[in-house]
Amino acid sequence: MVGFDLEAGKIEHLLGHDNFTLHRKSIDEAVADGSMQEAVAWADVVVNLAAICNPYEYAIRPSAVIKSSLFDALPIVDLCCELNTWLIQFSTCEVYGRTVSSYVPEEGYSDPDLYVQSESRTPLVMGPVSKQRWCYASAKQTLERYVYALGFERQMPFTIIRPYNFFGPRMDFIPGRDGTGIPRVLACFITALLDDEPLLLVDGGTARRTITSIHDAIDAMMAMFDRPHAATGQIFNIGADGNELTISELAHRMREIYADVSCDPRKRNLPILNVTGEEFYGKGGYEDCDRRVIDSTNATSLLGWSAKIGIDEILRETISYYYEIYADKTAVATR
Ligand SMILES: NC(=O)c1ccc[n+]([C@@H]2O[C@H](COP(=O)([O-])OP(=O)(O)OC[C@H]3O[C@@H](n4cnc5c(N)ncnc54)[C@H](O)[C@@H]3O)[C@@H](O)[C@H]2O)c1
Repeated sequence: MVGFDLEAGKIEHLLGHDNFTLHRKSIDEAVADGSMQEAVAWADVVVNLAAICNPYEYAIRPSAVIKSSLFDALPIVDLCCELNTWLIQFSTCEVYGRTVSSYVPEEGYSDPDLYVQSESRTPLVMGPVSKQRWCYASAKQTLERYVYALGFERQMPFTIIRPYNFFGPRMDFIPGRDGTGIPRVLACFITALLDDEPLLLVDGGTARRTITSIHDAIDAMMAMFDRPHAATGQIFNIGADGNELTISELAHRMREIYADVSCDPRKRNLPILNVTGEEFYGKGGYEDCDRRVIDSTNATSLLGWSAKIGIDEILRETISYYYEIYADKTAVATR
């Protein structure tokens, strides 16, 4: 297996493996020096995971976000098409944007056809250009359309994956420990819990997400490798049907589980406070997807896959990992 990435923090434990070589370069550098062409010519399958995929980055450097998800990836898609190599493209459930229900608030969520996300039926609703939040979803959507078009015109073998909030150990950096800036929501809450700071809910934490274990996500990938004929030419939502909750509920649950894992009941009293999108992300034009309810019928019927792991198990595993690595345990022992 050959990989390309400038960063290796999350996969350091795999770097010595006999069957894995990591080239420390970006995919555009690899295309420019020919090493990408060499790797694709040798590969049975190409999995494109490269992206800047953190909402804070959408606000502060949207052009880099668009470049990483769209323009840098185009030569790889073209290479796969030329060589007839199977491309598995990691897109995102953010391509659905806001639900249609969110534009007809008087309806609430009474009609599932207006909010449940199906690969073949649901419209992709992006917000205005001035709301930079949509730069990532729009870039991913355009790349999906390009991949799909080459599948249609030139029979390029492809699979598109739309992940729903994969959570697990190593998923993100902790600011001040192994990174800077603002990570995604799970790591923001863990940082607050580690540091005895308030957990901040952007715009009231009313947005709802579907949380999926990284182990279920890996099983979905394995099911694709096992059934390449069923997987090619398809778009798959990959997420855990029952695991929907609001960001506010997520904060409350994480606080509870962290208190248990750390044996530190004081953590249950950490405040959970509201901030606006602008206070949290700056003036970059923040807007949020209101809800992500997955229809995973396609993955179940074609791959025989469905997610199995519930929210509390996912949070306990992930929080325990971060607690073991980063918490100052002497402080708890002293108390
Ligand atoms: N984790 C999720 O819940 C989730 C949800 C939706 C979509 N996705 C998609 O899945 C993929 C992986 O997500 P992740 O959570 O593991 O993110 P991640 O940030 O951990 O991994 C993305 C990697 O891409 C690398 N990268 C960015 N631009 C690059 C470039 N030009 N050349 C080479 N490498 C580059 C980064 O250095 C990073 O290591 C991404 O494409 C993301 O958009 C993930």
